Amino acid sequence: MKKLIAGNWKMNGTRESAKALLADIVNHIHKHPGVLERCDFLVCPAFLHIGLARHTLHSAPHIAYGAQDCSAFGDGAYTGDVSAAMLKDQGCQYVILGHSERREYHKESSETVRAKAEKALEAGLKVIICVGEKLKEREEGLAEDIVKQQLIGSLPKAANGSNTVIAYEPVWAIGTGKSATPADIAAMHGFIRRLLVDRVENGSAVRILYGGSVKPDNAGVIFAVRDVNGALIGGASLKADSFLGIAQAV
Ligand code: PGA
Repeated sequence: MKKLIAGNWKMNGTRESAKALLADIVNHIHKHPGVLERCDFLVCPAFLHIGLARHTLHSAPHIAYGAQDCSAFGDGAYTGDVSAAMLKDQGCQYVILGHSERREYHKESSETVRAKAEKALEAGLKVIICVGEKLKEREEGLAEDIVKQQLIGSLPKAANGSNTVIAYEPVWAIGTGKSATPADIAAMHGFIRRLLVDRVENGSAVRILYGGSVKPDNAGVIFAVRDVNGALIGGASLKADSFLGIAQAV
């Protein structure tokens, strides 16, 4: 399975810096031999910068772009929201849903994430559904229970091996510089794989990404873990060097 190297830019950047980052990725990707054969690439800028991605990546179809969220509703009277159909219309291929920052700061439940995922699939987008436990939950031995609840609660009915990606992101590893150990990643990815095989059409083909402080220097070890099919990268996706350096580790 080709690895998916996905950048989650979060709420960062200006028009100028976003344009420069996109151009750097396009221009430098060829300096990393073999990465295009081994990896699929995705960048997810803020909504306002998706138009720049559309423009800049027009000539680089090997780099997909997507969004970090979408509405749970179809087009209509939902002030401030952005629909899945609008993202598709902008050329997005993917949408990240249920990131822990949205679950935490916007109180998104798995039910909401699932409703968003249904809309995204209807619009023809692929979904990246994020799951992950907090530190306290891991310490209490609840990591698998939490991940299972989030996964089962968030998966859309029509999920299958080609339209759905899962990102396992332990909350305590996001932006902290502390990634999970290869043994913990192996255990959780194996657990997620078994759930997917049981419940999802062609579940063995669903890509499971690891996210949480992935950097060029720990990526090789993480990618060597069974059932790690790519990475969802926050901080290190904001520089072309580190983003592509992670791909180089595949
Ligand atoms: P990080 O973020 O790579 O900065 O830890 C990952 C994420 O939140 O997707």
